[in-house]
Amino acid sequence: MGRVIVFGSLNMDLTIECPRQPRMGETVTGSGFLLNPGGKGANQAVAAARLGADTVMIGAVGADVFGDALVASLEGAGVACGRIRHIDGVSTGVASITRVGGDNCIVLDPGANHVLTGHDVTVVLDEVAAAGDVFVTQLECDLAATWEALAAAHARGLYTILNPAPAVPIPREVWASVDAICLNETECEIVTGVFPGDGLAIEHALELLADWGVGMVALTLGAQGSRVLCEGRTIDSRPPAVRVIDTTGAGDTYIGALAMGRARGLSLDETVEWATCASALATARLGAQQAVPAADEVAALMVVRR
Ligand code: RIB
Repeated sequence: MGRVIVFGSLNMDLTIECPRQPRMGETVTGSGFLLNPGGKGANQAVAAARLGADTVMIGAVGADVFGDALVASLEGAGVACGRIRHIDGVSTGVASITRVGGDNCIVLDPGANHVLTGHDVTVVLDEVAAAGDVFVTQLECDLAATWEALAAAHARGLYTILNPAPAVPIPREVWASVDAICLNETECEIVTGVFPGDGLAIEHALELLADWGVGMVALTLGAQGSRVLCEGRTIDSRPPAVRVIDTTGAGDTYIGALAMGRARGLSLDETVEWATCASALATARLGAQQAVPAADEVAALMVVRR
Protein backbone atom coordinates (compact mmCIF):
# COMPACT_ATOMS: atom_id res chain seq x y z
CA MET A 1 0.00 0.00 0.00
CA GLY A 2 1.40 3.41 -0.98
CA ARG A 3 1.24 6.67 0.90
CA VAL A 4 -0.50 9.88 -0.07
CA ILE A 5 1.85 12.88 -0.04
CA VAL A 6 0.15 16.26 -0.32
CA PHE A 7 2.03 19.44 -1.15
CA GLY A 8 -0.44 22.26 -0.68
CA SER A 9 -2.08 25.04 1.23
CA LEU A 10 -3.21 25.35 4.82
CA ASN A 11 -5.70 28.18 5.45
CA MET A 12 -7.82 29.26 8.37
CA ASP A 13 -11.33 29.72 6.93
CA LEU A 14 -13.49 32.58 8.25
CA THR A 15 -16.97 32.00 6.89
CA ILE A 16 -20.32 33.81 7.15
CA GLU A 17 -23.73 32.76 5.80
CA CYS A 18 -25.24 35.60 3.70
CA PRO A 19 -28.60 36.07 2.00
CA ARG A 20 -26.71 37.17 -1.15
CA GLN A 21 -23.26 38.30 -2.26
CA PRO A 22 -22.61 42.01 -1.46
CA ARG A 23 -22.16 44.48 -4.32
CA MET A 24 -19.07 46.74 -4.41
CA GLY A 25 -19.24 49.27 -1.55
CA GLU A 26 -22.17 47.51 0.12
CA THR A 27 -22.39 45.87 3.56
CA VAL A 28 -24.67 42.85 3.84
CA THR A 29 -25.67 41.46 7.24
CA GLY A 30 -25.01 37.75 7.53
CA SER A 31 -25.04 35.16 10.31
CA GLY A 32 -23.53 31.85 11.39
CA PHE A 33 -19.88 32.95 11.63
CA LEU A 34 -17.54 29.96 11.61
CA LEU A 35 -13.77 29.81 12.11
CA ASN A 36 -12.50 26.44 10.91
CA PRO A 37 -9.43 24.76 9.42
CA GLY A 38 -9.29 24.71 5.63
CA GLY A 39 -6.98 25.19 2.66
CA LYS A 40 -7.32 22.98 -0.38
CA GLY A 41 -4.12 21.04 0.32
CA ALA A 42 -4.88 20.46 3.99
CA ASN A 43 -8.51 19.55 3.26
CA GLN A 44 -7.37 16.95 0.71
CA ALA A 45 -4.84 15.53 3.17
CA VAL A 46 -7.49 15.28 5.91
CA ALA A 47 -9.86 13.51 3.50
CA ALA A 48 -7.22 11.01 2.34
CA ALA A 49 -6.25 10.22 5.95
CA ARG A 50 -9.79 10.04 7.34
CA LEU A 51 -10.75 7.69 4.51
CA GLY A 52 -7.89 5.33 5.31
CA ALA A 53 -4.65 6.40 3.60
CA ASP A 54 -1.28 6.83 5.27
CA THR A 55 -0.88 10.57 4.55
CA VAL A 56 1.95 13.10 4.76
CA MET A 57 1.47 16.89 4.46
CA ILE A 58 4.12 19.20 2.98
CA GLY A 59 3.35 22.90 3.44
CA ALA A 60 3.97 26.01 5.51
CA VAL A 61 2.19 28.12 8.11
CA GLY A 62 3.14 31.28 9.98
CA ALA A 63 4.41 31.14 13.56
CA ASP A 64 0.96 32.16 14.86
CA VAL A 65 -2.17 30.73 16.50
CA PHE A 66 -3.87 29.94 13.18
CA GLY A 67 -0.83 27.94 12.09
CA ASP A 68 -0.84 25.93 15.33
CA ALA A 69 -4.58 25.26 15.02
CA LEU A 70 -4.22 24.08 11.41
CA VAL A 71 -1.44 21.64 12.28
CA ALA A 72 -3.50 20.36 15.24
CA SER A 73 -6.46 19.72 12.93
CA LEU A 74 -4.32 17.71 10.51
CA GLU A 75 -2.77 15.74 13.35
CA GLY A 76 -6.25 15.03 14.71
CA ALA A 77 -7.11 13.44 11.36
CA GLY A 78 -3.97 11.28 11.48
CA VAL A 79 -1.91 13.21 8.90
CA ALA A 80 1.89 13.17 9.43
CA CYS A 81 2.79 16.84 9.98
CA GLY A 82 6.55 16.70 10.66
CA ARG A 83 7.28 18.28 7.26
CA ILE A 84 5.09 21.35 7.77
CA ARG A 85 7.30 24.42 8.25
CA HIS A 86 6.44 27.22 10.72
CA ILE A 87 7.77 30.44 9.19
CA ASP A 88 8.54 33.61 11.23
CA GLY A 89 7.47 37.00 9.90
CA VAL A 90 4.70 35.83 7.60
CA SER A 91 1.08 35.08 8.49
CA THR A 92 -0.71 31.78 8.05
CA GLY A 93 -2.98 31.59 4.99
CA VAL A 94 -6.50 32.91 5.56
CA ALA A 95 -9.63 32.45 3.46
CA SER A 96 -12.61 34.78 3.80
CA ILE A 97 -15.67 32.83 2.67
CA THR A 98 -19.21 34.04 1.99
CA ARG A 99 -21.74 31.20 2.03
CA VAL A 100 -24.90 31.80 0.03
CA GLY A 101 -27.50 29.02 -0.07
CA GLY A 102 -25.00 26.16 0.16
CA ASP A 103 -22.57 27.65 -2.38
CA ASN A 104 -19.66 29.96 -1.62
CA CYS A 105 -17.28 32.71 -2.77
CA ILE A 106 -13.73 32.77 -1.42
CA VAL A 107 -11.10 35.51 -1.05
CA LEU A 108 -7.71 34.12 -0.12
CA ASP A 109 -4.57 35.62 1.42
CA PRO A 110 -2.05 32.78 0.89
CA GLY A 111 0.56 34.14 3.37
CA ALA A 112 3.00 31.36 4.29
CA ASN A 113 1.61 29.06 1.60
CA HIS A 114 3.81 30.88 -0.92
CA VAL A 115 7.06 30.47 0.98
CA LEU A 116 8.17 26.93 0.05
CA THR A 117 10.20 26.49 -3.15
CA GLY A 118 10.25 23.53 -5.51
CA HIS A 119 13.64 22.63 -4.06
CA ASP A 120 12.19 22.56 -0.51
CA VAL A 121 9.50 20.11 -1.65
CA THR A 122 11.97 17.97 -3.60
CA VAL A 123 14.20 17.61 -0.53
CA VAL A 124 11.22 16.31 1.48
CA LEU A 125 10.19 13.94 -1.32
CA ASP A 126 13.68 12.46 -1.29
CA GLU A 127 13.31 11.83 2.44
CA VAL A 128 9.76 10.47 2.63
CA ALA A 129 8.52 9.30 -0.77
CA ALA A 130 8.82 5.98 -2.58
CA ALA A 131 7.88 4.97 -6.11
CA GLY A 132 4.18 4.09 -6.20
CA ASP A 133 3.19 6.71 -3.61
CA VAL A 134 0.54 9.22 -4.66
CA PHE A 135 1.48 12.90 -4.91
CA VAL A 136 -1.35 15.45 -4.73
CA THR A 137 -1.09 19.19 -5.31
CA GLN A 138 -3.24 22.23 -6.14
CA LEU A 139 -2.52 25.85 -7.12
CA GLU A 140 -2.74 27.74 -3.81
CA CYS A 141 1.04 27.57 -3.27
CA ASP A 142 3.71 29.28 -5.36
CA LEU A 143 3.13 28.19 -8.96
CA ALA A 144 6.79 27.76 -9.94
CA ALA A 145 7.29 25.63 -6.81
CA THR A 146 4.22 23.58 -7.71
CA TRP A 147 5.38 22.85 -11.28
CA GLU A 148 8.85 21.89 -10.00
CA ALA A 149 7.38 19.68 -7.27
CA LEU A 150 5.12 17.91 -9.78
CA ALA A 151 8.09 17.22 -12.06
CA ALA A 152 10.19 15.95 -9.13
CA ALA A 153 7.39 13.66 -7.89
CA HIS A 154 6.75 12.28 -11.38
CA ALA A 155 10.47 11.69 -12.00
CA ARG A 156 10.65 9.68 -8.75
CA GLY A 157 7.85 7.36 -9.87
CA LEU A 158 5.03 8.84 -7.78
CA TYR A 159 1.52 8.88 -9.26
CA THR A 160 0.70 12.59 -9.55
CA ILE A 161 -2.76 14.12 -9.13
CA LEU A 162 -3.18 17.81 -9.99
CA ASN A 163 -6.17 19.83 -8.80
CA PRO A 164 -5.83 23.08 -10.79
CA ALA A 165 -7.55 25.30 -8.22
CA PRO A 166 -7.70 28.23 -8.17
CA ALA A 167 -7.41 27.75 -11.93
CA VAL A 168 -4.81 29.33 -14.19
CA PRO A 169 -3.75 28.30 -17.70
CA ILE A 170 -1.24 25.45 -17.26
CA PRO A 171 2.16 25.82 -18.98
CA ARG A 172 2.45 23.20 -21.75
CA GLU A 173 5.56 21.54 -20.30
CA VAL A 174 3.75 20.73 -17.04
CA TRP A 175 1.44 18.14 -18.65
CA ALA A 176 4.24 15.57 -18.93
CA SER A 177 4.30 15.39 -15.10
CA VAL A 178 0.53 15.01 -14.58
CA ASP A 179 -0.86 11.46 -14.30
CA ALA A 180 -4.32 12.50 -13.16
CA ILE A 181 -6.28 15.72 -12.95
CA CYS A 182 -9.42 16.55 -10.98
CA LEU A 183 -11.21 19.78 -11.81
CA ASN A 184 -14.63 21.42 -11.63
CA GLU A 185 -16.52 23.14 -14.46
CA THR A 186 -15.00 26.61 -13.94
CA GLU A 187 -11.50 25.19 -13.68
CA CYS A 188 -12.13 23.11 -16.80
CA GLU A 189 -12.99 26.22 -18.81
CA ILE A 190 -9.84 28.05 -17.70
CA VAL A 191 -7.54 25.06 -18.22
CA THR A 192 -8.96 23.70 -21.51
CA GLY A 193 -10.84 26.71 -22.97
CA VAL A 194 -14.01 24.54 -23.05
CA PHE A 195 -16.91 25.13 -20.66
CA PRO A 196 -18.39 21.66 -20.01
CA GLY A 197 -21.99 22.85 -20.27
CA ASP A 198 -23.44 19.85 -22.16
CA GLY A 199 -22.57 16.27 -23.04
CA LEU A 200 -20.60 17.13 -26.18
CA ALA A 201 -18.57 19.85 -24.46
CA ILE A 202 -17.82 17.52 -21.53
CA GLU A 203 -16.56 14.85 -23.92
CA HIS A 204 -14.48 17.39 -25.84
CA ALA A 205 -12.84 18.78 -22.68
CA LEU A 206 -12.03 15.31 -21.32
CA GLU A 207 -10.54 14.21 -24.64
CA LEU A 208 -8.40 17.36 -24.86
CA LEU A 209 -6.89 16.61 -21.45
CA ALA A 210 -6.34 12.96 -22.39
CA ASP A 211 -4.64 14.07 -25.63
CA TRP A 212 -2.29 16.24 -23.57
CA GLY A 213 -1.13 13.03 -21.85
CA VAL A 214 -3.23 12.98 -18.66
CA GLY A 215 -4.04 9.32 -17.94
CA MET A 216 -7.04 9.93 -15.67
CA VAL A 217 -9.37 12.93 -15.89
CA ALA A 218 -12.04 13.49 -13.23
CA LEU A 219 -14.48 16.31 -13.96
CA THR A 220 -16.78 17.22 -11.07
CA LEU A 221 -20.17 18.59 -12.10
CA GLY A 222 -21.70 19.83 -8.82
CA ALA A 223 -25.10 18.28 -8.13
CA GLN A 224 -24.80 16.24 -11.35
CA GLY A 225 -21.92 14.21 -9.91
CA SER A 226 -18.78 13.55 -11.91
CA ARG A 227 -17.45 12.04 -15.11
CA VAL A 228 -14.13 10.20 -15.11
CA LEU A 229 -12.15 9.26 -18.22
CA CYS A 230 -9.35 6.76 -17.71
CA GLU A 231 -7.57 4.85 -20.47
CA GLY A 232 -10.50 5.15 -22.86
CA ARG A 233 -13.10 4.13 -20.25
CA THR A 234 -15.73 6.55 -18.94
CA ILE A 235 -17.45 6.38 -15.56
CA ASP A 236 -20.45 8.60 -14.80
CA SER A 237 -21.19 8.86 -11.12
CA ARG A 238 -24.35 10.39 -9.66
CA PRO A 239 -24.25 11.54 -6.02
CA PRO A 240 -26.75 10.28 -3.45
CA ALA A 241 -29.49 12.75 -2.51
CA VAL A 242 -28.42 14.76 0.56
CA ARG A 243 -29.56 18.08 2.03
CA VAL A 244 -26.79 20.46 0.95
CA ILE A 245 -25.64 22.77 3.76
CA ASP A 246 -22.21 23.94 2.59
CA THR A 247 -20.16 22.86 -0.45
CA THR A 248 -16.85 24.25 0.92
CA GLY A 249 -14.28 21.47 0.78
CA ALA A 250 -16.55 18.94 -0.99
CA GLY A 251 -14.30 18.94 -4.08
CA ASP A 252 -11.28 18.51 -1.79
CA THR A 253 -12.95 15.50 -0.17
CA TYR A 254 -13.51 13.99 -3.64
CA ILE A 255 -9.81 14.45 -4.46
CA GLY A 256 -8.64 13.05 -1.11
CA ALA A 257 -10.77 9.97 -1.80
CA LEU A 258 -9.29 9.57 -5.30
CA ALA A 259 -5.80 9.67 -3.78
CA MET A 260 -6.76 7.20 -1.04
CA GLY A 261 -8.21 4.76 -3.60
CA ARG A 262 -5.09 4.90 -5.76
CA ALA A 263 -2.74 4.54 -2.77
CA ARG A 264 -4.68 1.56 -1.41
CA GLY A 265 -4.91 -0.15 -4.80
CA LEU A 266 -8.72 0.01 -5.13
CA SER A 267 -10.30 -0.45 -8.55
CA LEU A 268 -11.23 2.70 -10.44
CA ASP A 269 -14.96 2.02 -9.97
CA GLU A 270 -14.55 1.60 -6.21
CA THR A 271 -12.38 4.70 -5.99
CA VAL A 272 -14.91 6.87 -7.83
CA GLU A 273 -17.72 5.54 -5.62
CA TRP A 274 -15.73 6.44 -2.48
CA ALA A 275 -15.11 9.92 -3.90
CA THR A 276 -18.76 10.43 -4.85
CA CYS A 277 -20.19 9.29 -1.51
CA ALA A 278 -17.56 11.05 0.64
CA SER A 279 -18.00 14.39 -1.14
CA ALA A 280 -21.80 14.15 -0.97
CA LEU A 281 -21.62 13.58 2.79
CA ALA A 282 -19.27 16.58 3.09
CA THR A 283 -21.85 18.87 1.46
CA ALA A 284 -24.37 17.94 4.14
CA ARG A 285 -22.15 19.49 6.85
CA LEU A 286 -20.83 22.94 7.62
CA GLY A 287 -17.18 23.85 7.11
CA ALA A 288 -14.16 22.39 5.35
CA GLN A 289 -12.07 19.84 7.29
CA GLN A 290 -14.73 19.43 9.96
CA ALA A 291 -17.18 18.31 7.24
CA VAL A 292 -15.01 15.46 5.90
CA PRO A 293 -16.71 12.15 6.79
CA ALA A 294 -15.03 9.14 8.38
CA ALA A 295 -14.39 5.97 6.35
CA ASP A 296 -17.10 3.96 8.11
CA GLU A 297 -19.77 6.58 7.32
CA VAL A 298 -18.83 6.50 3.64
CA ALA A 299 -18.70 2.70 3.60
CA ALA A 300 -22.20 2.57 5.13
CA LEU A 301 -23.57 4.88 2.44
CA MET A 302 -21.90 2.79 -0.27
CA VAL A 303 -23.64 -0.33 1.05
CA VAL A 304 -27.03 1.39 0.84
CA ARG A 305 -26.34 2.40 -2.81
CA ARG A 306 -25.38 -1.10 -3.98
O1 RIB B 1 -11.60 24.23 -1.43
C1 RIB B 1 -12.03 24.89 -0.27
C2 RIB B 1 -10.91 25.67 0.34
O2 RIB B 1 -10.53 26.70 -0.55
C3 RIB B 1 -11.25 26.36 1.63
O3 RIB B 1 -11.04 25.55 2.75
C4 RIB B 1 -10.40 27.62 1.59
O4 RIB B 1 -9.36 27.62 2.51
C5 RIB B 1 -9.87 27.71 0.16
O5 RIB B 1 -8.56 27.42 0.10
